Amino acid sequence: MIDEKINIKKPETQFGNADAANHVTGRSIYVDDIPAIEGMLYLRIFDSPIAHGKIKKIDYAEAEQTEGVVKIFSYKDIPGENQIGGIFPDEPLLADEEVHFCGQPVLIIAAENDDAAEEALHKIKIEIDPLPVITDPRIAFAQNKLLSPSRKFKIGDTTTAFAQCKYIFEGRTETNGQEHLYLETQGAYAYPTEHDSVKIFSSTQGPTQVQRTAARVLGVGMNKVEVDVSRLGGGFGGKEDQASAWATMAALVAYLLKRPAKCILHRMEDMRMTGKRNPYSSDYKIGLDDNYNILAYEATFYQNGGAAADLSPAILERTLFHCTNSYFVPNVTATAHSCKTNLPPNTAFRGFGGPQGMFVIEAAIDHAAKNLGVDASVIQRKNMMDDGNEMPYGQIIKNAEAKDCWDQVTVKCDIEAIKKDINDFNSQNDLIKKGVALMPVCFGISFTNTMMNHARALVHVYSDGSVGVSTGAVEMGQGVNSKMIQVAAKTLGISTDRIKLESTNTTRVANTSPSAASSTADLNGKALLHACNQVNERLYSFVKTEIAGDTECIVEIKDEQVYINGEATVHHWKSIVQQVFTKRINLSAKGHYATPVIHFDKSIEKGHPFAYHVYGTAIIRATVDCLRGTYEIDAVHAVHDAGTSINHLVDLGQCEGGIVQGIGWMTMEEVVYNEEGRLLSNALSTYKIPDIYSVPKELTVDFLNTDKNNLAIQKSKAVGEPPLMYGIGAFFAIRNAVIAFNPKSTIKYNAPITPEKVLMGLYSSNE
Ligand code: MOS
Repeated sequence: MIDEKINIKKPETQFGNADAANHVTGRSIYVDDIPAIEGMLYLRIFDSPIAHGKIKKIDYAEAEQTEGVVKIFSYKDIPGENQIGGIFPDEPLLADEEVHFCGQPVLIIAAENDDAAEEALHKIKIEIDPLPVITDPRIAFAQNKLLSPSRKFKIGDTTTAFAQCKYIFEGRTETNGQEHLYLETQGAYAYPTEHDSVKIFSSTQGPTQVQRTAARVLGVGMNKVEVDVSRLGGGFGGKEDQASAWATMAALVAYLLKRPAKCILHRMEDMRMTGKRNPYSSDYKIGLDDNYNILAYEATFYQNGGAAADLSPAILERTLFHCTNSYFVPNVTATAHSCKTNLPPNTAFRGFGGPQGMFVIEAAIDHAAKNLGVDASVIQRKNMMDDGNEMPYGQIIKNAEAKDCWDQVTVKCDIEAIKKDINDFNSQNDLIKKGVALMPVCFGISFTNTMMNHARALVHVYSDGSVGVSTGAVEMGQGVNSKMIQVAAKTLGISTDRIKLESTNTTRVANTSPSAASSTADLNGKALLHACNQVNERLYSFVKTEIAGDTECIVEIKDEQVYINGEATVHHWKSIVQQVFTKRINLSAKGHYATPVIHFDKSIEKGHPFAYHVYGTAIIRATVDCLRGTYEIDAVHAVHDAGTSINHLVDLGQCEGGIVQGIGWMTMEEVVYNEEGRLLSNALSTYKIPDIYSVPKELTVDFLNTDKNNLAIQKSKAVGEPPLMYGIGAFFAIRNAVIAFNPKSTIKYNAPITPEKVLMGLYSSNE
């Protein structure tokens, strides 16, 4: 059963996940597993108990006297800038005069052991004059509290187009936040090195961002901060920007006290102090003609950014890029506001604003369908994008697979039979109802900030024929290291066993973009390809001149054997490498890649921001217990555009994990802050994420194997984020079951659709 469900059987010839064996045997090394150096200090953070106010008085003299405590640091101890803002400089490392959210770091305690640090934490006294707390983005907007300038994407003319529409529907949607809940909490370990430098081991998706931030706070050059990352126990976007604070704190203490320091957040601290997926409140207006063509769409997005910009302005942009999902709409006006509230700065989360944008148009289509008495799938399929369509941001669609994926999954699963079964079931059952929904996804691949789309890789072929590979890619469980090994092995023509993937280190690969935007394997893989090809050129040219004696011949290394003009020779990888080395030829290479084609002009909000798009469609089925309001997701079947997958197991794992995480966001995961801005869902007892029992009873993903896209690494398309959005279908499947029970239900487009909301929806007709 399990075998079948999660496809655990590894095809004989398939290279799977290089880390899997170490993970399941507990040998993989995370930050907290790095052996402590003698004299290591333990850090704890004193954070703001209230969400907004002026610090009147803070007294930590007594706390600092606690036995075992070495020193307590405030913003006054910072030698450089007290600033960690990535996009805008609006976020102090340690609060100075004011606090802006519950959980905002104020002081760092450095102690000989964790117990002493904990004891000191309780002795700190703070007096704060409270200021008004805002948690609602619409209220923030009304008071003009914005984190960044508002944005507007426009194509066609919605005003004229609405006048031509036969049907117009307007409404409002809410999507809530989502706690990243990486298994490994935020943390870092730093120690002082020579020449007033520091080395940081960080659980970060963005080693360069940590380096840049620490250098700024320490007031030193980036060259004095080395950041090393072996792997993360999950990131999901939560460590794209928000790993920097803890790493910088560890670096600060190591730098000032000249002792090793470790800062690892406890789970509840992590939940309280870090930002989450940005909640959105949105308005939509959709207009259709007689034939259900969507002629016009307007949306306004109010993003809950929290107390500092963090990545929210970039997330806002991706919401606009994905506001029409897989549909072609000729007239669109989409406006987005990044609103400043007194919550921890919200941040990247798998999909990066895309899911928040897509939910709104899916709700608008569902709203129209319910009122027109048709199935939403009719409107969805009718308006699906195709080659030549222009997106609201100006990119002309090429190699669209939206209709392909939709048609394949609906045929394969016989959607008409599913609908009929569900109707039959619902007509025969009063207290249990079933629902189904289709969820198409179109996701743009590239950082929307064009300048971030580049990467580098470093390859060393050692004189014994073994190979060390460094890239800017961070392994966070997504399997990128496995893909990098495959890319190097295939390009060099050697066994994967010869290749070691090194840690991600800022002294080996500099100025990296974070591992994010689903682009890590593409960008770093292409850079690696470039590096390997340089090594190949040198090896091949040696074979041509020294072995074949013919500079025109064609040389290739395949399965470690040297081929000349297609003929196998007695020469092999190892012997060639050894000979090349004795000839004093460079066996190392650095590759660089910058995505071609892409550009975007923010002043007109038009361009060609994405290297390509990833497509897919999922069918999601749910069953609702209409007495209790509880539900189960029965099945998810997806056809997903993976290109020519180079690692089926890794890609399948990304799809399955993404789908379940998306379902979690849409159904059970409920981030709750009270009016004072205090997190109520602050532990695993009050915040529920999917477990193995929440995985749909049936979950299948079929890959649409296309090979049109050369901007994907070896035509294997990006897979990290897109599958999460299939989970949006779970919302509509459950909602459809509720409506099957109570056609008058006015259950809102308000996610997550928790059992409480389902129960209310089942029995209220005028919510
Ligand atoms: Mo990812 S949400 O782009 O870190």
